[in-house]
Amino acid sequence: MEFSIKAGAAEKQKSDCIVLGVFAGRELSEAAALVDRAAGGTLAEALTDGDMEGRAGSTLMLRKVPGVAATRVLLVGLGASAEFDAHAYREAVQHAVAALRGGGSTDCVLYLAELAVKDCDLPRRIRLAVSTAAEATYRFDRLKSKKDEDRTRLAKITLGLSAKPDAAANRALAQGEALGAGVKLARDLGNLPSNICTPSFLAKQAQELADEFKLKCQVLEEKDMEKLGMGSLLSVTRGSREPAKLIVLEYNGGPKKQKPTVLVGKGITFDTGGISIKPAPDMDEMKFDMSGAGSVLGTLRAVAGMGLPVNVVGIIPTCENMPDGSAVKPGDIVTSMSGLTIEILNTDAEGRLILCDALTYAKRFNPDGMIDIATLTGACVVALGHVASGLYSNDDAFAAEVLDAGQASLDRAWRMPLWQDYQEQLKSPFADLANIGGRAAGSVTAACFLARFVDKTTPWVHLDIAGVAYRSGKQKGSTGRPVPMLTEYLLKRAGQG
Ligand code: BES
Ligand code: MN
Ligand code: ZN
Repeated sequence: MEFSIKAGAAEKQKSDCIVLGVFAGRELSEAAALVDRAAGGTLAEALTDGDMEGRAGSTLMLRKVPGVAATRVLLVGLGASAEFDAHAYREAVQHAVAALRGGGSTDCVLYLAELAVKDCDLPRRIRLAVSTAAEATYRFDRLKSKKDEDRTRLAKITLGLSAKPDAAANRALAQGEALGAGVKLARDLGNLPSNICTPSFLAKQAQELADEFKLKCQVLEEKDMEKLGMGSLLSVTRGSREPAKLIVLEYNGGPKKQKPTVLVGKGITFDTGGISIKPAPDMDEMKFDMSGAGSVLGTLRAVAGMGLPVNVVGIIPTCENMPDGSAVKPGDIVTSMSGLTIEILNTDAEGRLILCDALTYAKRFNPDGMIDIATLTGACVVALGHVASGLYSNDDAFAAEVLDAGQASLDRAWRMPLWQDYQEQLKSPFADLANIGGRAAGSVTAACFLARFVDKTTPWVHLDIAGVAYRSGKQKGSTGRPVPMLTEYLLKRAGQG
């Protein structure tokens, strides 16, 4: 998809389609009203005839409207004007693109970015329109021998503005494209099956990203991890034939002395549960168990694409969780890199076992802040569903910044408690701690486990993305979340939010 910005009157655009907004109650947006005047009232007539009311999600395609240079006019319902916020704006863009995708247009000019949106200035509206449109045209058919129909139609989206775009608007366009590309990378990696997207494959992807954007990339092998004493991470990979990797990517766009933000992503490329094997139904969805890793690569793609003046380190512990004759067994005790010993009571609680060693390793980068991202617990899905990521933190100010970034990017998280009281549940009679804490508060005790490996002086956020990283059912597929939230946080840190 190609994106651009163009100034000028909507009715004069020579395009396959111009897209105009209509608020509920048949209220034409400013751009729509101007076109209506040039069209001798044709749009207003369609509305009063009852063809459209302006409800959110509705669209109406008109052809060959008099006085309009474009072949088509697509009216998009915006809902109530008093309630028109960033959510409604994003939905309008989504519905417009969905309506165009199946139709005859190969290019279009969108007159939505100049709509007044609560708490959303023009650069943010441009960024959101571009990243949303990029996501709305996403398709994953590379493994089908016959590609889906209509895949090539809509190829060019122009944002129509009344005035010439300034530097901030042009920058926002490029940022929207970079964010879209980051989300796409995360979705592609999530959607790829585990026989293709192996730990070695992820390492190769990281290397390619590094080559393209001049990042520093280092891949630690199992023998390196042994030397570092990563007994916890290595215990998870024991049952697999695929070698585990620890990927380290560094983007240095900021001042040399600036401490980096460290992102740590869970990269279980397939989670069978190991010896504590999972039930068969829906087990295919455990190919998405590397979504945290995908979001780290996606965010680095976005940030590097934007050339943000920040320093970011991405750390990805990646392996498979498989059962075989040498697999780790319930009751086994391993020693983590931190020195803490862990009694593995359930081999399906493997995410925390690879993350704890990665978090210990992260200390050497002297992080300004550390965020780990993981499809960690089914309990988090029970608690928050598919709307919000679970957020845990040892630092209120840092937590607030990440929560705000989620709010601003419409990729939200909800804070959960990390209280000492829950540590009780992780006690083991044989080791320093157990890797599970029983049925109660499963997402919380998983976070509390990780907290044992982070020192109190490092601001840290843990995101449990089990409910938001992918969709099940008919719409099955990776969402690319929380790349928008993480990118927004780094945009703010770069002073460009
Ligand atoms: N990858 C799963 C968590 C998960 C579950 C992600 C559902 C997405 C959807 C994780 O490794 C896991 O198996 N967690 C266990 C922990 C339990 C054994 C304490 C779980 O949630 O059941
Ligand atoms: Mn598991
Ligand atoms: Zn898992």
